[in-house]
Amino acid sequence: MKTQRAILGLTVLLAGWLSLSALTGPSTPTVLDGTQTAADSLKHDPNTGLVVDERLTLVTAQCTACHSSKLILQNRFTRDGWKEKIRWMQRTQKLWDLGESEPVILDYLVNYYGPEQKPFDGRRKPLPAVQWYKL
Ligand code: HEC
Repeated sequence: MKTQRAILGLTVLLAGWLSLSALTGPSTPTVLDGTQTAADSLKHDPNTGLVVDERLTLVTAQCTACHSSKLILQNRFTRDGWKEKIRWMQRTQKLWDLGESEPVILDYLVNYYGPEQKPFDGRRKPLPAVQWYKL
């Protein structure tokens, strides 16, 4: 009986934590060591987890009407890749013509959900203009 209650308590706790972390999206690192992309210091919308900027309302209206924003958050595509997804949804999922909004939405998507940029590959940059001295 006691064990059951403990398990129930843990499950509730875990579920709470999971829904909370799902809501807040990727956590913002507290220490910036210069290897992160600009995306790490961006503000995220608490409802969708999407990056907040002046295009967010448009993107939320057009892209979260049918499904969760998680489908956006868990993907990274080039502009062509995102366009291809939109075309696919238009062909098969009844997504409407986005009209003038399409380039704006594509800009937003590539901006924040484009292919991951890795400016730091684990090696330091070569030292610039080393002046050697005679031993
Ligand atoms: C008319 C409904 C509708 C709208 C609006 C919509 N989608 Fe979708 N989208 C879907 C459906 C349905 C799926 C397939 C979901 C599934 O597989 O469970 C999907 C899947 C996706 C996927 C996953 C594709 C894959 O290969 O797994 C992405 C990414 C996506 N949508 C992004 C977007 C973006 C960005 C927008 C805004 C431009 C958008 N969606 C608007 C219906 C829609």
